[in-house]
Amino acid sequence: MELSSYTFVLLFLFTIAGDTVCANGIRPTKLFVFGDSYSDTGNNPKSLASSWKTPYGVTFPGKPAGRYSDGRVLTDFLAKFMGIKSPLPYQWRKYGQNRMQHGVNFAYGGTGVFDTGNLQPNMSTQIGYLQGLVKANVYTKRDLGSSLALVTISGNDYGAYTSSGGSEQGLSSFISQVVNQIGINIKRIHDMGVPRVLVSTLQPIGCLPRETIFSSYQQCNESRNSASSFHNQLLQQVVTGLNNSTRGSSFLTLDLFTTFNTVLKNKGDFTGSVKFDTPLRPCCESHKQWCFLWKFG
Ligand SMILES: *[C@@H]1O[C@H](CO)[C@@H](O)[C@H](O)[C@H]1NC(C)=O
Ligand SMILES: *[C@@H]1O[C@H](CO)[C@@H](O)[C@H](O)[C@H]1NC(C)=O
Ligand SMILES: *[C@@H]1O[C@H](CO)[C@@H](O)[C@H](O)[C@H]1NC(C)=O
Ligand SMILES: *[C@@H]1O[C@H](CO)[C@@H](O)[C@H](O)[C@H]1NC(C)=O
Repeated sequence: MELSSYTFVLLFLFTIAGDTVCANGIRPTKLFVFGDSYSDTGNNPKSLASSWKTPYGVTFPGKPAGRYSDGRVLTDFLAKFMGIKSPLPYQWRKYGQNRMQHGVNFAYGGTGVFDTGNLQPNMSTQIGYLQGLVKANVYTKRDLGSSLALVTISGNDYGAYTSSGGSEQGLSSFISQVVNQIGINIKRIHDMGVPRVLVSTLQPIGCLPRETIFSSYQQCNESRNSASSFHNQLLQQVVTGLNNSTRGSSFLTLDLFTTFNTVLKNKGDFTGSVKFDTPLRPCCESHKQWCFLWKFG
């Protein structure tokens, strides 16, 4: 089984304002994570996933450890910001009971809100896993009340749509379906008692190596980037609507679209300590699967 070729992580720095994570001024002590490779910290099986092979993991933690990145992923950054340990991947729960106090990471690289052609659990199933832990009294309602959820959707649904022969004409209606499902999912997480849900916007998918390869890594595919913009516009509407129906700021977007564009434009981070001379070119390629790593420091 090959995981979707949309399974990748680009590294970037992101900043979050303090009140982003603190609902009603209460600092959350647990992080629950749902989504794909942008937040997976080791859920996919070693026997199947490229995330357990070099060069993944070489910067952090020093060897491949199930992240689709040479270093940290969003989950790790957010946990650090919250002052907690990066939550345990769900697959490893038997071996880390004591770490469950920091929450659980249910994200599987390659997945989407719908099935993406691999055997990994889609986001509905991932949310079901948390429900299972609540039923089993691993977490109480009160625990959920002091938690934060991170939801990442970085385009595997669209990768699957294209590779299964979905038409360009049908794309905008498919984007609506994906975003509606995201809305259903984040509402479900909130309804379970998680006071604040952070959901990522879609990065400019036309700037990913699988698209830029057609211009020898010189140009982004603007038509693909418009699809990202449309997704994000619909997502903003959904989030604003949910936000408005729940008094206070229960739902927030994490703006990866702007973040990526900033890094691509500046060819590095804000401090200038990381430089990408050719930001549209991946650091390395493998014969079976593109390796979308950016060298980081
Ligand atoms: C998620 O996966 C489950 C189990 O395979 C399936 O029953 C369900 O329809 C899927 N949900 C969505 C939204 O595709
Ligand atoms: C850009 O993407 C569109 C699909 O949105 C595709 O039809 C077109 O061939 C791509 N252009 C290039 C230069 O790859
Ligand atoms: C928020 O909800 C109120 C009442 O339900 C409605 O009048 C208002 O237009 C909504 N605002 C937005 C931005 O959706
Ligand atoms: C949700 O509401 C909060 C405050 O009410 C606001 O700060 C935040 O920007 C809103 N988010 C969206 C995506 O509308």
